[in-house]
Parts: sequence; C-alpha cells; structure tokens
Amino acid sequence: MPSTGAAPQWVNPLRDERDKRLPRIAGPCSLVIFGVTGDLARKKLMPAVYDLANRGLLPPGFALVGFARRDWADEDFGQVVHDAVKQHSRTPFREEVWERLAEGIRFVQGSFDDAAAFAELSSTLESLDQERGTGGNHAFYLAIPPAAFPTVCEQLSRSGLAKQTEEQWRRVVIEKPFGHDLDSAKELNAVVNTVFPEDSVFRIDHYLGKETVQNILALRFANQLFDPIWNAHYVDHVQITMAEDIGLGGRAGYYDGIGAARDVIQNHLLQLLAFTAMEEPVSFEPSELQAEKIKVLSATRLAEPLDETTARGQYAAGWQGGQQVVGLLDEEGFSKDSVTETYAAITLEVDTRRWAGVPFYLRTGKRLGRRVTEIAVVFKRAPHLPFDATMTEELGQNALVIRVQPDEGVTMRFGSKVPGSSMEVRDVNMDFSYGQAFTESSPEAYERLILDMLLGEPSLFPVNAEVELSWKILDPVLERWAAEGTPEPYESGTWGPQSAQDMLRRTGREWRRP
Ligand code: BG6
Repeated sequence: MPSTGAAPQWVNPLRDERDKRLPRIAGPCSLVIFGVTGDLARKKLMPAVYDLANRGLLPPGFALVGFARRDWADEDFGQVVHDAVKQHSRTPFREEVWERLAEGIRFVQGSFDDAAAFAELSSTLESLDQERGTGGNHAFYLAIPPAAFPTVCEQLSRSGLAKQTEEQWRRVVIEKPFGHDLDSAKELNAVVNTVFPEDSVFRIDHYLGKETVQNILALRFANQLFDPIWNAHYVDHVQITMAEDIGLGGRAGYYDGIGAARDVIQNHLLQLLAFTAMEEPVSFEPSELQAEKIKVLSATRLAEPLDETTARGQYAAGWQGGQQVVGLLDEEGFSKDSVTETYAAITLEVDTRRWAGVPFYLRTGKRLGRRVTEIAVVFKRAPHLPFDATMTEELGQNALVIRVQPDEGVTMRFGSKVPGSSMEVRDVNMDFSYGQAFTESSPEAYERLILDMLLGEPSLFPVNAEVELSWKILDPVLERWAAEGTPEPYESGTWGPQSAQDMLRRTGREWRRP
C-alpha cells in the first residue's frame, strides 16, 4: 500500500466517544458550594464529591471551594469535608484519594451580600486556575434557601464570576424549592436567568439521579413487551407512591408552611409521572427528552371536583418501628396551630390519546407505615373470564410495579393456578431485583447529578418550563388547601388519613399496601 506520509493514527477502541458505556470523566474545574454548613452539603454533596474522586471520575485539576460565614481557614473546612466523607460516603475511605482531593480544598469566608467576599472568591478561583489548572471552569452550587438565590446570583454577576467565554464555562446549580407557586417560580427563574443563560442552570431533582428512575426509560423504550399495553386500552389506573416513615423533627425551618405537595409532588412525583406517561423521545438527546416531558406535563391537570379527587393530612402521635412518636404539632419548631400537610394525595388526568380516561393517583406522606417509593401500573380486568366466579375470587388486577426504593426492582403481578386438583386462580408476583441481577452497586443520585453537571450534560435536570408547568398543575389544589385550614389528622405508622382512602374507594379502587 502506498504511504500517505503521515503516521497512521491508532484509534483506541476503548476511547470511542460514541460508546456510552464508558465512564466519562469531568474536565478540569472547580466546584464552589454555598451553604457548606448545612445538612445537604455534609450528608450528600461532600460525600458524593469524594465518591466521584474515588471512582476516578474527577480530573487531577479539580478544586472544591466552600463559602460561608464561619471563621474557618482552609484546613478547618478540609476537616469538615473529611468528617462528612468518613461518615456518609458510599465507597470505602482511601487515604491516597482523600489526600489528592484535600490538596484542592479552599474556604472563603463571607456573607452572601458581601462584595469583598466575592472579590476574595474570585481571586481564590484565579489562584486555583494557576495552581491546579482548573481552567477557569467554575460551578456554583447554591445549597442555600431560595430566598438567598437573587443575592448570590447578583454578587456572582457583579464580581464577574458568572461571565463565561468560549473556553471557560460557568454553571449554577440550584436546589428546590423552585418557588412556592407558579408566580414565584417565574420570578425566581427570571432572576437566575438574568445572570446565567438557561443552558448554564442545573436544577437538581435528586429523584432523576436514581437508577430505578432512569430504568423507567429502559423498561419502556428498550423492550417490546410493555409498550403495546402501556395505554388507556389496557391500563386501568396508575398509582405513584412516595411513602416515608420518618417524621419532621429538626426540619421545621424548611418544612413548616411548605408541606408535602410542594416538597415532593411538585418535583419528584410529577417527574415520575412524566417518565411514566411521556411518549418515546426521538433520541436521548437532552432536548428531545425534555420536549417529551414538557408535552406530557402540558397535557396533565388535576381531576375534579377537588374535594373528591384530592386528600391531605397531618400526622398525629402514634407508633413507628415499635417506638412511640409525637405528632407534627409537638415536633420541635412547629407552631401548635400549624396547618402544614404531611400527607397529600391527588388525582391527575393526562389528556392525550394514550391516557384519556386513565387516572394517575399520586400520594406522599411522612410517618406512614414504611418507607417505599413505587410506580404501580394497574391493568384492567380481562374482559371475560371463562371460570366459575368462585375460581377467581382471589384474582386481583394485573399490575406492573416499578420499585424505586428501597428494594429496587420491578414486580409483575398476575394470576396463576393454585396447585391441586381443582381450578383456582390466585395472584402471584414475579420479581426482578437489582441486587440479584447485577453485581454493580448503584451510585448515589448526587454522584450522578454532580458528575453530569460538571460534564455539562443536562438530560437529568428539569428545565424552567417543566418547573413552571408542574406549579401550574398543582396551584389550584394548593390554593384550595390554603383556604381550608387544618388538615385531617392521621395516626403515625398508618397509611394516611381516611379522606385519602375514601378518595379511591369512591372510584371503586384501593390504594396498594406496599
Ligand atoms: C427530599 C424532600 O427532596 O426528598 C424530603 O425534601 C424527603 O422531605 C427526601 O425526605 C426523600 O428522599 P429519598 O431519596 O430518601 O427518597
């Protein structure tokens, strides 16, 4: 073969950019966390950063900068990160990984409205660019109350820290609540978007970082088995449950006045609904995925009348895990006349050809029977049963249950013959369990999301439009509840208020007992 002159380039097949199975490593950058003294930073963010480093997914040129009012030196902050990592990280602690990470840890002292502190932050980041080669790429993680977002964004803008160029990116990460209704969400989005363009804003909904939530897409769009029956012809209704056994002790500052619907239905549960009900995206390009979620959320609305299709409650004293627990009104920090709901259930309709007439029931609550999150697609009964009625007395409706947590997997429920000489049909379960099928353990949601953000990969972050549509869906019931006053009490350790049971019974259905 004649030589072309140039040495042939050897292409390493392991480095094929198109192979999405390969781990992607973030490029040089620094991550600045505002709110480093809070629970989120200590329990989730710092451990996730360490876990990423431990998995080799952070570049050598990486820096972690804390910003807070405390009078700390870099070493003090380093110690805080060290303790948080030791206590909460998912992967084993390795001294050499920690030492490499610790070299890039810095602290800047200041309050959010202190221009001098932001100038100091700016020079710290510049020095890191020089010393560690972080390349002028900076992510600002606002793990702070939303009321402080405008001030911090303004300071980042004034100090020039929000300014990006072709070569240097700047990104902002915000945590919910993204407002408390549609109007306030619009205001908040406007403030953030005056400083950061929409493609530099990463809104965290940590449910989207969960393996089992991403598996909804695999289950639906990688298989032939489910799609033909994933519609109003076969599905009777869908139940999306996020039940927690914990109470709200210690969280009054955040939760009182917010309540269950704003805390998790507006974000996590509506995102689960979007993944379950959306059409197949043209591809898994972020814009295509977002387009489908936006379409389905635009078609979603509360079923009416609201007094029959929604329910809310507040936990009273009771027993949980063998221990006596107090009611919300006796939890530290809650006012004795708090009308905050700790349980919320709503009925949604999705006005599309696929889902017309299929109710989506969403419920969530604190201090319920046990911690479980699942999506149950419940199918219609067979149109004809060629059995005597007694033979199928114990046959329920077929169901496909996506078990989001804690026992991650999928269950299919169907009828089977009971062994014996007579014909009797009873419900059985067929289970797929992550723990048994795979040897790899799932990364924490925050690992996945922080890495994606550093890579500039926006698929798992809800955009502005999704946030606003979610408020638009929820606002009517929030207004109604605000006018109603006190929610119905339910005993801790049970499955919620009577009104929630009635809500389904009225339609001839029952909530699942997970
Ligand atoms: C958070 C809510 O978003 O999710 C909390 O603010 C809730 O109230 C938490 O407890 C539950 O998260 P997970 O991942 O444990 O289901």
